[in-house]
Amino acid sequence: MGTTIEMERAGSLLHSVVQGLALKSPAASFPPAPQCPLCGDVGWELVECEERGRKVSRARPCVCQHARKLIAMARDSGLPAEWLKTHTLNGMEQPTEIYGAVVEKVSQWLAAYQPHQAGLLLYGPAGSGKTRMITACLRGLILKRSLPCRYYDARVFLQLLRNTYNADSDTTERELVESFVHPQVVALDELVVARTDWERETMLMLVGERYKANKTLLVATNLCREQLRDELDERLSSRLRAMTEPLHLDGPDFRQKGSAA
Ligand SMILES: Nc1ncnc2c1ncn2[C@@H]1O[C@H](COP(=O)(O)OP(=O)(O)OP(=O)(O)O)[C@@H](O)[C@H]1O
Ligand SMILES: [Mg+2]
Ligand SMILES: [Zn+2]
Repeated sequence: MGTTIEMERAGSLLHSVVQGLALKSPAASFPPAPQCPLCGDVGWELVECEERGRKVSRARPCVCQHARKLIAMARDSGLPAEWLKTHTLNGMEQPTEIYGAVVEKVSQWLAAYQPHQAGLLLYGPAGSGKTRMITACLRGLILKRSLPCRYYDARVFLQLLRNTYNADSDTTERELVESFVHPQVVALDELVVARTDWERETMLMLVGERYKANKTLLVATNLCREQLRDELDERLSSRLRAMTEPLHLDGPDFRQKGSAA
């Protein structure tokens, strides 16, 4: 049936795609899909097969069609190309047993992922690997499961929303909100306590929309357990508790260990 060969071909093509993407950063500078050595970018390849004792040629979709779809998904995810190359759970050091247990838990979450599955909320000190973990999950879901995912830094997202209020903005507020609510999985990084009523209401609206749509949310934050309980807006914190499982990632600052990206 050639299934294994197909998988190997797709795998090696994907590998070169990710390697290629990683050469350019940020995501906006993604190169176009590479030339396909299998079909010359036609998207189909001819295979010889036997039918009723005769050799015939049949066209079938080339694996590069799938690779192109994944490239588009990766580009739309907002993940920097370098992260798509390096942010994996496999290569993570495990300085303590408790840290290792969190890596294991996140790996299990990723392996078992089903649409609408509850998400995770990683909290812990700076440089402990929270962003890496939630983005490694997105990477896995995009490249291995072809699921539409989106990464947002909360502060940057709020700024983007503010920008849509300018008369010359090319994006509307609704489009941006849709880009947060629509994807199967969203990773919301750098969740902080709101500084203004607008920030509070906006974050509540965004998370609330995903809650109503029963869509998976991954969160990373430097807020400690007490701050999460006492300082976040109560309605926001209630929804986050319903949507995510909290995991404390207590580790060293890996940026100081010379492994910073
Ligand atoms: N367990 C680990 N093993 C090796 N490198 C790691 C590990 N965790 C994180 N890193 C690396 O350390 C750097 C910082 O990690 P990351 O950005 O995920 O930390 P963070 O917890 O999100 O920090 P902050 O709170 O400042 O946002 C990255 O380059 C990341 O790849
Ligand atoms: Mg981070
Ligand atoms: Zn091809």
